[in-house]
Amino acid sequence: MADLSVSFTGIELKNPVMLASGVWDLPYTELIDFEKLGGIVYKSISLSSREGNPPPRLTEIPCGVINSIGLANKGIENFNKEILPQLKDLGTEVFVSIFGESIEEFAELTSRITDVSGIEVNISCPNVKEGGLLFGADPDIAYNVTKAVCSNTDLPVIVKLTPEAVDIVKVALSVKEAGASAITASNTFQGLVIDIETHKPIFRRITGGVSGPAIRPLSLYKAYQITRAVDIPVIGSGGITDWMDALEYFFVGVSAIEVGSAIFNNPLAPIEIIDNINRYMDENEYKNILEMKGEVNEERC
Ligand SMILES: Cc1cc2nc3c(=O)[nH]c(=O)nc-3n(C[C@H](O)[C@H](O)[C@H](O)COP(=O)(O)O)c2cc1C
Repeated sequence: MADLSVSFTGIELKNPVMLASGVWDLPYTELIDFEKLGGIVYKSISLSSREGNPPPRLTEIPCGVINSIGLANKGIENFNKEILPQLKDLGTEVFVSIFGESIEEFAELTSRITDVSGIEVNISCPNVKEGGLLFGADPDIAYNVTKAVCSNTDLPVIVKLTPEAVDIVKVALSVKEAGASAITASNTFQGLVIDIETHKPIFRRITGGVSGPAIRPLSLYKAYQITRAVDIPVIGSGGITDWMDALEYFFVGVSAIEVGSAIFNNPLAPIEIIDNINRYMDENEYKNILEMKGEVNEERC
């Protein structure tokens, strides 16, 4: 039997398949067998509660979805008191995603997080205090956020990058330099949908984040660039719907993957991916994930 467990920079997972941030919440727990998952990343939490954007917040597009949730959440106090105890009962590794409107907010939020397997830092949000540019768009700002988070915790810090950065490799190198334990590559791509009745964008905030199979080759390429540039572990995210998509990510060298919007169509997708990776590894006599990953044949490029 293949060994699916992965272990990197203080993170230990029974298998490399995690549930991505924001695509699920506690009311839906009966749909997924959490104990079988490598881990879960809870949706992004801020210092205070946030209502998020007005509806509509999500719509289908060809091969995926576009969302404008606006990072709605009930804040860190509610997370620690109400949510975390329930997450801990799910029988899998719990990671929490955090975001702030300023570097100081990221730092304070981090200091209030304990008792999880790691923190995923969402830097795809605007730096409200400094003019609204995404933290993750600029290597220096991404460095400062990561440094602030790492200085305030002993937990593993995973920084989730935005594909909207002009040069995502520079951002990856910066967050590594600032002390990140791992990188998630990557978040949603910005997109636009127009309502042809009203001639206006369907979302009040105009753009939304595109996810699902539509972005897979784009996200996979980001992961490919990053695994070649940095020597810390990379977690692949973007458009993974089945085990073959997952293999593409492992072959470019990621250490784990996150499954996101695929669960909207098929809540069993993450578990089916785990079972099929297991079968594939057995059939191909891979003993562990390390043996299998990073197989891309550069000579063919
Ligand atoms: C409805 C929705 C909400 C999301 N919320 C968050 C979030 O709170 N924090 C975050 O870092 N990413 C969030 N994401 C991005 C996902 O975690 C994931 O990185 C992205 O959707 C790409 O993966 P996918 O194509 O498998 O969905 C959200 C995505 C969707 C569709």
